Amino acid sequence: MGKIYIKTFGCQMNEYDSAKMVDILSAHADYTVTDDPAAADIMLFNTCSVREKAQEKVFHDLGRIKQYKQHNPQLIIGVGGCVASQEGAAIVKRAPYVDLVFGPQTLHRLPQMIAAKRQTGRSQVDISFPEIEKFDHLPPARVVGASAFVSIMEGCSKYCTFCVVPYTRGEEVSRPFADVLAEVAELALQGVREITLLGQNVNAYTAAIRIQSANSSGNPSISSSQDNAADLALLIEYIAEIPGIERIRFTTSHPKEFTQRLIDCFGQIPQLASHVHLPVQAGADSVLGAMKRGYTALEYKSIVRRLRVQRPDISITSDFIVGFPGETANDFEQTMRLITDIEFDASFSFVYSPRPGTPAAALVDATPHAIKLERLQRLQALNETHTHAFSAALVGSQQRVLVLPPLDLETIPETQLLIPLRGQTDHNRMVHFVGPRTRIHTIQTVTITRAQARTLHGELLDHHPQIATQQFHSTHQRTASP
Ligand code: SAM
Ligand code: F3S
Repeated sequence: MGKIYIKTFGCQMNEYDSAKMVDILSAHADYTVTDDPAAADIMLFNTCSVREKAQEKVFHDLGRIKQYKQHNPQLIIGVGGCVASQEGAAIVKRAPYVDLVFGPQTLHRLPQMIAAKRQTGRSQVDISFPEIEKFDHLPPARVVGASAFVSIMEGCSKYCTFCVVPYTRGEEVSRPFADVLAEVAELALQGVREITLLGQNVNAYTAAIRIQSANSSGNPSISSSQDNAADLALLIEYIAEIPGIERIRFTTSHPKEFTQRLIDCFGQIPQLASHVHLPVQAGADSVLGAMKRGYTALEYKSIVRRLRVQRPDISITSDFIVGFPGETANDFEQTMRLITDIEFDASFSFVYSPRPGTPAAALVDATPHAIKLERLQRLQALNETHTHAFSAALVGSQQRVLVLPPLDLETIPETQLLIPLRGQTDHNRMVHFVGPRTRIHTIQTVTITRAQARTLHGELLDHHPQIATQQFHSTHQRTASP
């Protein structure tokens, strides 16, 4: 049996792609994953180039693994992901012991690339963008626990001036509607209760569908059909109808395409988690314009306000870039004002990192790095106070959680009736509580009794999740009605 060592850098898309690399290799030959690089037959680096530091780290790590090849000349070393996509054959030039270079859209060709390397002895480079071909070649999803990621679209066509993603992952391409539904239905049959729809801009999802309607006499036989386009809202509506799917998440979404239809879903679909990750990047319209984000601070606030109408308890998280070229002290204060106004539940914030080949890299950037760091620290401190306040406000509330096994489950005697359990809330907070082990991998309701920064403690409510869903539904219908 062969062993795969895989190291993933960057975002959830990369985490997803890494899981697919393992799936596809295991479908072709007998492979298991190892944490020990010295034991590996195949060593893969799934890389990220969104910021300079991430990219530097890849080359640093590559330098360190050279030694493994000296001990095991049969070892296959592959570099995938966004750095691979950007650097291509230059990686093999810089590190000739690398056998494979593949992009996010060609990872399904890994078995063929490995065979070609073994046959010819030559390093293989394939960083093309063969449209959505990847999805057709992936083996069926494998499930661990009751949660699964389903990629619904690839790439990005927004071309924000600071970002490399459109160049490394290609333009937006959506998966066919029926394929996504079939995958989710299959996952539900395997016991999955929570689905996270993944994509660089999931709300740009669009797929052709044929809507068929019954005739006027109410006869269920199809009397007319019409070609139409499905959006993310429709996809969520359909997924919510799949038996077994109790919680639906999506990430990442873009403010530009956050339609009222999608906002309304939060009032109508109880399975939709009360959380949206909606990167804003900055609070000054001049900076948003220079970033080519396609919305103003006011428009962003309007989305959040309308989301809160549908789901008063919704958690909004965001991404921020500090020190974009030309950002003045006043611009930064506008970002701080936006944060104060919205009170984000959590955020990822970064100092702007010029990325080669992007339009912003050519802009004059006069702000000293020390000032950018100072701004970042102030922004993070402010966001931190809101994160704590959000946790504290959850005390006394009832939250649905997906129950996970305790890390030391094997050491707990089978005869012990109540065991320490953990569960993830809609807002991605971990709650600790006690309950029977039969609740593991199910969705349950927990009353929050105590809050720490991002960790909560609670008590299990002893009723069936379906009842909670029905109660939730009726409450939200009332809230949403005019
Ligand atoms: N699709 C998402 C959106 O709607 O904005 C963003 C995806 S991007 C890969 C993830 C985050 O990385 C961005 O939201 C941004 O905050 C950060 N990022 C991207 N390029 C960056 C750069 N050049 N410097 C600093 N941060 C950057
Ligand atoms: Fe990057 Fe903007 Fe797309 S941040 S991933 S180009 S939405």
